[in-house]
Amino acid sequence: MGRGLDYLGKYRIIRMVRSGHTCQIYEAMDDFDHKKFAIKALVPEQRKNKEEIKALQHELAVAKDFDHDNVIEVYEIGTDGSVYFLVLELSPHPNLKLMIRNDFEMALYRAPTIIEQVFISLGYMNDQGWVHSDVKPDNFLVSNEGDIKLIDFAISEKIRTGFSRWFASKPRIQGTMSYMSPEQIRGEALMPQSDIYSAGILFYELLSRKLPYTGESSDELLRKHISGDIPDVRTHNPNVTEECSELIKQMLAKKPENRPKSFKSILNSISRIRIFRAMPKDPLENKEQDGDE
Ligand SMILES: Nc1ncnc2c1ncn2[C@@H]1O[C@H](COP(=O)(O)OP(=O)(O)OP(=O)(O)O)[C@@H](O)[C@H]1O
Ligand SMILES: [Mg+2]
Repeated sequence: MGRGLDYLGKYRIIRMVRSGHTCQIYEAMDDFDHKKFAIKALVPEQRKNKEEIKALQHELAVAKDFDHDNVIEVYEIGTDGSVYFLVLELSPHPNLKLMIRNDFEMALYRAPTIIEQVFISLGYMNDQGWVHSDVKPDNFLVSNEGDIKLIDFAISEKIRTGFSRWFASKPRIQGTMSYMSPEQIRGEALMPQSDIYSAGILFYELLSRKLPYTGESSDELLRKHISGDIPDVRTHNPNVTEECSELIKQMLAKKPENRPKSFKSILNSISRIRIFRAMPKDPLENKEQDGDE
């Protein structure tokens, strides 16, 4: 960064939103037209790492033509000297993992809106010919109203058709273990049903604040995904209806062909059932009442 930490290319850095293992997310301003953006830059130790630079370029290639309210816009790759970064639409909202962790009451109250928009965003991506491949609560930004934006296309894959499906074995398995479908664990070709499996784990977590599969070791965790009994979300949240628990179980079927065919068909099913036996209360309303007492 030629001009110190204040600028990346033409973008003035306002603040760091988050710093992870490989990437830092900044809030930034283009002073020329006073527009705010999000900047995704590699952490200093990774800035020369060709694989990571490729991942940023890949993210742009995947998402540049997407145009959907529930999917974050990805605009361009910027450079500052030898530093490459991704320029994205800025969202003021935290990710869904944080909401589940820090404000679970709100997550439950907004669950019907959240899950509908999660499925709509993934259905859109699948319809555009892509498998997201890293579906998990950290990769959705969520407002207090439950509006969703899908992010992080770093390991998204083109849906393979015909014969190429059978020649997909991967040198490096990518994804997040707690959310990975059996076929992703095996390094096989991914398909919309692979996102459906991971979205099933997310749905389970959204309703219970628990993951369906955990393990003492990664081997144990992966074995449960591949052959463990599919748990019932009602063990952790008895307010979930039987129909909803069944739908989640279908999404978590071990064989992709036993899962729902598409997010469209899941949206269709969910419009005909209730998620909760009794609708959770608005946590803000409760707080106001508490204040009155
Ligand atoms: N456009 C954005 N607007 C606001 N916040 C964002 C935006 N993009 C990402 N974030 C925040 O930064 C976090 C990480 O972003 P992202 O998932 O794209 O990076 P990552 O590749 O997973 O990074 P890491 O490997 O470090 O976890 C998100 O969970 C979210 O909290
Ligand atoms: Mg991420």
